[in-house]
Amino acid sequence: MAILAPSLLSADFLRLYEALEIVNKSSVEWLHLDIMDGVFVPNISFGFPVLAAVQKNCQKPMDVHLMIVEPDRYIERFVKHGAFNISVHYEACPHLHRTIQNIHSYGIKAGVAINPHTSVNLLEDIIQDIEVVCLMSVNPGFGGQKFIEHTYSKIDKLKNLIIQKNSKALIEIDGGVDANNIQALVKAGADVLVAGNSIFGQKDIAAAIKHIYQLM
Ligand code: DX5
Ligand code: ZN
Repeated sequence: MAILAPSLLSADFLRLYEALEIVNKSSVEWLHLDIMDGVFVPNISFGFPVLAAVQKNCQKPMDVHLMIVEPDRYIERFVKHGAFNISVHYEACPHLHRTIQNIHSYGIKAGVAINPHTSVNLLEDIIQDIEVVCLMSVNPGFGGQKFIEHTYSKIDKLKNLIIQKNSKALIEIDGGVDANNIQALVKAGADVLVAGNSIFGQKDIAAAIKHIYQLM
């Protein structure tokens, strides 16, 4: 069974408390939190004050996806704000191994996210050291974009790399995940499905979550 990680980015920010209550009462495994700095990606999402409010009201493990340059400057603060996994971008980390060590030094999980154009082969020498690979299935920066079909072949290659290297990394798919591709993604080997618009963009959030589980 795959893990479902709703992405709060698509929630109504005036009604975050209600959204979190629904998530808490549901069977979703993780909550996905997208941090954007306006430099690594052409958008700015939310920062520590919002995260602090979420932390207070969230009973699910907080999966923090950093779309920021120089993530090392902030790892400790994200840990203090409740992150149980922090994924950093391959493209933003010239000293990726050191960044992963930094995340692990706080006793939490570490992930690496890769953009649609970044080859999974580039993870060959880090895959044994990480718990999550976040495969971007849209260009990062915005919710509600169209799923990039090429992701399926990347899942396949990544699965082989994970087996070959005896890694325990989970394959997380982020972007454009919805009722039309969930089954195929699970079948292809996705372990974690991030879903923003297809959950928080819907009128009835609880029903949207239930519907996705039925498809998984
Ligand atoms: C995009 C973010 C995603 C986003 C997914 O940069 O990393 O997590 O919230 O949203 P949907 O599911 O709407 O594509
Ligand atoms: Zn994300």
